[in-house]
Amino acid sequence: MYKPFKIKENIFYVGLNDRTKHLFENLWPLPKGVSYNSYIINDEKIALIDTVDICYSDVFFNKIYSVLGNKPINYLIVNHMEPDHSGSIELLKTRYPDMKIVGNNRTADMLKGFYGITDNILIIKDKEELNLGKNTLQFYLTPMVHWPETMMTYVKESKTLFSGDAFGTFGTLDGGVTDTQLNPDWYWDEMIRYYSNIVGKYGSPVQAALKKLSGVEIETICSTHGPVWTQPDIIAQVISLYDKLSKYESENGLVIAYGSMYGNTEQLAEIIAAAAADNGVKNIIMHNVSKSHESEILRDIFKYRGLIIGSPTYNNKPYPGVESLLLALQNRSVKNRFFGYFSGHTWADGAKRDLKAFAESMEFETVCESVEMKQSLNSNVTENAYALGKAMAEKLNSEIDVVPQKADCH
Ligand code: FEO
Repeated sequence: MYKPFKIKENIFYVGLNDRTKHLFENLWPLPKGVSYNSYIINDEKIALIDTVDICYSDVFFNKIYSVLGNKPINYLIVNHMEPDHSGSIELLKTRYPDMKIVGNNRTADMLKGFYGITDNILIIKDKEELNLGKNTLQFYLTPMVHWPETMMTYVKESKTLFSGDAFGTFGTLDGGVTDTQLNPDWYWDEMIRYYSNIVGKYGSPVQAALKKLSGVEIETICSTHGPVWTQPDIIAQVISLYDKLSKYESENGLVIAYGSMYGNTEQLAEIIAAAAADNGVKNIIMHNVSKSHESEILRDIFKYRGLIIGSPTYNNKPYPGVESLLLALQNRSVKNRFFGYFSGHTWADGAKRDLKAFAESMEFETVCESVEMKQSLNSNVTENAYALGKAMAEKLNSEIDVVPQKADCH
């Protein structure tokens, strides 16, 4: 029998940890696992907020039983229909056939499409309220954070926000559930990796949601993944991080992402990094695309202001890992970066051609001419590579300096 975990008066955690799955959405590695969070509001009328991945429905039902015993669930609030949260709805409905499912018009369409559910659905509109007894729920429609039906549920009396994917992180809840029980520092990087990979395309909708919530007093955030945020300074940090990431704002630092087959392009990357370090850049993160997972590269690109990408030519295109990264950045409309690129080729420079087209397609500031290497390094290429690293450093430093410096480039 599970011991129910009470977050605050009437509110219980009934989510669980997944340490089995290797890839979230069958794409994104889970080195620290992931939690699927679900909550019960145990009032005169009982509400369950979201469900969990179908693989864990048996544990989930046992947890619900540990809180409710044989009492019924009156409402299932569906903040998000992605199957990591909606996967247990159909089975839940067989156990609680009288339960009303609460969502918006888009939710209803997906309930029908995914699970064939068309009855006992309560459609709510933006800001509509539902009283459970001592707790009043208010619904905020927040489309595209991360799907079109996404919404958040706010408990007015306890100032608790059930936020769906927003403010969530990868990483399991080991032992505790709240940020007072767990070490929040353990989660920041995984929050950025979650945001940049899963929600990163939807910067404008996230901004719209933050604007909608700006007048709402929040004392607790219960998201669908990761810790429950309860401490005022941590809540401010979490909201500020989402605000910054969704505006594509970043810290001072440089990511150099490159592909290399035999090490020649990698040597160029090393020279560029050394030049940036020589000229004062301290936060330099280098990613070999054949080793670093793209989700980690995207996380760091969302974090830092400087970006340099390098690639050898492969089948007259950029190296496959680099080509995939370029598409991922275009797909997420990443902007406001200082940018540079370098390429290597043996007989035809398809990498340079495509990197140039990429640079022109993005809202980036290119800091310097690109560096081009035929077959291997020579003194001229070495000088150009150094100049690129230096120009990037001067741009990054100019953001710190009171008087911006002009980049000195080859
Ligand atoms: Fe955690 Fe968009 O689902």
